[in-house]
Amino acid sequence: MLSLNSFHTFGLSANAKNLVRLTDVDQLIPAEPFYILGEGSNTIFLEDYEGCILQVCLKGVEITEHNDHYMVRVAAGENWHQLVIHLLQEKIFGLENLALIPGTVGAAPIQNIGAYGRELADFCHSVETLHLQNGEKTAIAAVDCQFGYRDSIFKQSEALALLITHVNLRFDKEWKPHNQYGELQALGEAPSPLEIYNKVVEVRQSKLPDPAKVGNAGSFFKNPVVEGDLFRLLKAKWAEIPGYSQEGGRVKIPAAWLIDTLGFKGKTVGGIACHAKQPLVLINQNHGTGQELLTLARDIRDSVYREFGIVLENEVRLMGKLGLITL
Ligand code: FAD
Ligand code: EPU
Repeated sequence: MLSLNSFHTFGLSANAKNLVRLTDVDQLIPAEPFYILGEGSNTIFLEDYEGCILQVCLKGVEITEHNDHYMVRVAAGENWHQLVIHLLQEKIFGLENLALIPGTVGAAPIQNIGAYGRELADFCHSVETLHLQNGEKTAIAAVDCQFGYRDSIFKQSEALALLITHVNLRFDKEWKPHNQYGELQALGEAPSPLEIYNKVVEVRQSKLPDPAKVGNAGSFFKNPVVEGDLFRLLKAKWAEIPGYSQEGGRVKIPAAWLIDTLGFKGKTVGGIACHAKQPLVLINQNHGTGQELLTLARDIRDSVYREFGIVLENEVRLMGKLGLITL
């Protein structure tokens, strides 16, 4: 058995039967149940896992310049934030809004990482995959990845055997700022990429706990998207409820507001707590256990459902002894 404590940013105590570091796409993979892991910043190992962890350690960044754009092919094991910095230094702009998101490049398409008004899908050209059962290598065009809010084809059960080996990104040379989201508006009309980068880093550091200091996996739940009718009903009762219009008359509601309104900020179950600054983030503040985390998360989910009639879904990947589980 091998300790997984340092392989997931939430830091719960858990073991795996086996761990293989994948450093070459043609490497032999053991024939046993597996879980593909990057840096574990969106995975929580709730208990011992009875399978093999395949840790993706493929490295390399290739940049090709074209007339009006750049193509960047990045190996899955590269760190996302280091890529953001590297491209800024190379004067290839676009990823500045997505600074400081933990984890690997290979995990970025899985939930179509997003922050501050931008998401991976805005830059993704294609995703190269290796099928771990039949060895087939395929490049999937971005249009076929079904990117949505914290969603993609890679989350579907048929795709769980697909290991992402490389992500191909495309950046137009003509760059314009995207600073409409919340705190970025303060940057005014024409901020530079570096100003956006610095602001995103500053805002994130002020709100989100640093996983190097306190165990966490970012937002625990997704922000729910509800029908317009339900939103209007809620608005009649809770005048201050925030909502952002989506396609088809639907409305995205910040889960942080729902959880905050129910008074969960700072609430603890054993060593697990609801973060006092950002209640959508659950933290492992004092050697918590998987069971304590599930108790608090289910209490939040059930309370939100009772009060608002909204079903919160976990955003993080929860691993049980046989594989992924839902809350
Ligand atoms: P892991 O947790 O290792 O894996 C996540 C999922 O991807 C798993 O299902 C795993 O099986 C799969 N996977 C990983 N690599 C591969 C691969 N090569 N091929 C196939 N499947 C693979 N996310 C956002 O979208 N926006 C944010 O603003 C954001 N902020 C965060 C802030 C903090 C403090 C933390 C801790 C997390 C945050 N996250 C955010 C979540 C996290 O950063 C992303 O989900 C990230 O993409 C996870 O990368 P990882 O390598 O750590 O993934
Ligand atoms: N809010 C409260 N109380 C609080 C905090 C927030 O009511 O204590 C409400 C406010 O109305 C605020 C709103 O929640 O305007 C949104 O808060 P915030 O801007 O912090 O963003 P979020 O919706 O909680 C999402 C992502 C983050 C991403 C940020 C910035 C999800 C699940 N989370 O958080 O992603 O960094 O927006 O774009 O979509 C992650 O996925 O792990 C993650 C951290």
